[in-house]
Amino acid sequence: MDRKSDDMDAQANADGGTLPDLSEFVASLETIDTSPYTGRCAEIFFANTGPGILKWLHYLPIYDRLFGQYAGRPVRMLEIGVLAGGSLHMWRTYFGPLATIFGIDINPDCAKYGGTAGQVRIGSQDDPDFLRAVVAEMGGIDIVLDDGSHIASHQRASFDVLFPLLNDGGLYVIEDLHTAYWPDYEGGLKRSGTGIEFLKDKIDAMHEHYVANGANRPERMAPIASIQFFDSIAAVEKRKQLPRRLAISPSPKPPATTEN
Ligand SMILES: C[S@@+](CC[C@H](N)C(=O)[O-])C[C@H]1O[C@@H](n2cnc3c(N)ncnc32)[C@H](O)[C@@H]1O
Repeated sequence: MDRKSDDMDAQANADGGTLPDLSEFVASLETIDTSPYTGRCAEIFFANTGPGILKWLHYLPIYDRLFGQYAGRPVRMLEIGVLAGGSLHMWRTYFGPLATIFGIDINPDCAKYGGTAGQVRIGSQDDPDFLRAVVAEMGGIDIVLDDGSHIASHQRASFDVLFPLLNDGGLYVIEDLHTAYWPDYEGGLKRSGTGIEFLKDKIDAMHEHYVANGANRPERMAPIASIQFFDSIAAVEKRKQLPRRLAISPSPKPPATTEN
């Protein structure tokens, strides 16, 4: 199910549906000032003359903040949601020739976009066996970008399978999290189980060792180093944690003993 194209439809709620009026967000690149959207990703996006890429423009500098550390390295990236195949080209240009880039999509027509910038596999993001098979084929995984159905239960299903498979130092990114506020996507403000509420629970998981006695050991701690929230994008950084210790440096001297 893909509703992002519908998101861009200014008439989305004309029939009294549950999407807000998005007309103020819809942009044609010829008619807007693109200069505020800067950085390497923006350069690649605005220079694109190949297959189409569908991105909110304010994501472009956010991608640089999140993904810049991996550029030029042999990173393994999986994007959920291929659509017209253009974003796979963007990531190939961004990460370089050493990267392994895979895209998955539920739409069989997307298979034709594989083989140039990246590989494409067809299946659903809420199918655990499919996801595991793709990661096995990739030989591991460092980055996930969930730009798929944007439906809460799908976002959760993908995270539950793929985050444990991420390499140490990897990054799990979910975008279009504004759908967490839209009923059509199983959303609603503070509704249990939305992408936003699910990720808030991960904040608690990151602090669990302050809650559960005996959890202050790396093997017991959730391997979450950080959770960053931007407008409609969140990034969960996977990293084995260090035991939390509260210490004073230099060590206070023991009190002098007075002997009679
Ligand atoms: C927003 S588009 C992807 C846009 C693309 N990443 C880009 O930047 O141009 C969402 C895509 O997710 C796919 N999709 C929808 N439901 C899915 C599911 N359950 N599993 C995998 N892909 C799905 C749709 O077919 C569609 O191509």
